[in-house]
Amino acid sequence: MLKVVSHSEAETEALGAALANLLRPGDFVALSGGLGAGKTALCRGLVRALGSEECASPTFTIVHEYDCDPPVYHFDAYRLNNADELYEIGCEEYFARGGIVLMEWPEKVEEALPKEAVRLFFAGVGEGERLIEIDGLGPAREEALKAAGVC
Ligand SMILES: Nc1ncnc2c1ncn2[C@@H]1O[C@H](COP(=O)(O)OP(=O)(O)O)[C@@H](O)[C@H]1O
Ligand SMILES: [Mg+2]
Repeated sequence: MLKVVSHSEAETEALGAALANLLRPGDFVALSGGLGAGKTALCRGLVRALGSEECASPTFTIVHEYDCDPPVYHFDAYRLNNADELYEIGCEEYFARGGIVLMEWPEKVEEALPKEAVRLFFAGVGEGERLIEIDGLGPAREEALKAAGVC
């Protein structure tokens, strides 16, 4: 488990970009934390680093697909009530495509998630500051993230 304090939206985006370099096709990233915690900001940095420009909150569409390398499937489960509703939109097919999956509000659909996931937990710790805990990267990637200077 790594703990990072981000002091700005730009720092959170930079953490996303650093993570992008360490993720592999097929990785699943769950992002937990309240509204405005910075989940989408981190996803924006991550997706941009993989070569896709625009990254808005997918709240109204549940899933946004980014045509980068590897492709990214960015879900926001905020409006879902349970795992069945995620299955209904074909999540298993997305999960099996070998892209990177980003899931905001994973606790809404916990039963549908793969057991192996990188887990991020966001908490506000003052205006403009966020504590971000990162679990499930494994020791080698934790070291690489530290070496990247973002935590
Ligand atoms: N350190 C920080 N990291 C990320 N966002 C921050 C930070 N400090 C303030 N913010 C603000 O918090 C909001 C985060 O929004 P967003 O990323 O959409 O959150 P979420 O997806 O978790 O609901 C933005 O308005 C951003 O400017
Ligand atoms: Mg969001």
